[in-house]
Amino acid sequence: MKKSTIWFLFILSVVGWVLFGVTMIFSGSTALAAPDGANLYAHHCGACHPHGGNKINPAIPLTGSAKTKSLAAFTAYNRNPLKADGSKGVMPAFPKDKISDQEMKLIYDYSLTLPGTSK
Ligand code: HEC
Repeated sequence: MKKSTIWFLFILSVVGWVLFGVTMIFSGSTALAAPDGANLYAHHCGACHPHGGNKINPAIPLTGSAKTKSLAAFTAYNRNPLKADGSKGVMPAFPKDKISDQEMKLIYDYSLTLPGTSK
């Protein structure tokens, strides 16, 4: 092999590793920087509401609920989840220190993508 060919292959592999490293760093940091609605939903709601259903009280699923008509109604319900008759149900409340208003909006937007749920 000629000396120039060896240099060429060496530089090619260095460039390849650098590009690989940069890609890993950027894909990693964006995944951490942007908590998305799907992740937040899975973390806070998914155990009881898989796919928008309701494991504890199947008669009152998230899917199709009137509480998804607006972000305001959705947020108010999650901050203080009372049943239609005004009594306290089983669902836990999510105050701002658990889910911020920004996170609530992400969860709301994600909820609207669940089949059967609309504004
Ligand atoms: C520990 C289980 C549990 C968790 C966690 C939970 N829920 Fe619920 N959710 C319920 C139950 C049970 C009901 C039925 C009403 C009740 O008994 O409180 C309900 C009802 C609802 C309803 C329908 C209310 C109605 O009257 O139509 C919506 C919307 C909802 N939950 C959204 C959410 C969202 C959003 C989250 C996550 C931020 C969440 N829930 C987390 C258990 C849970």
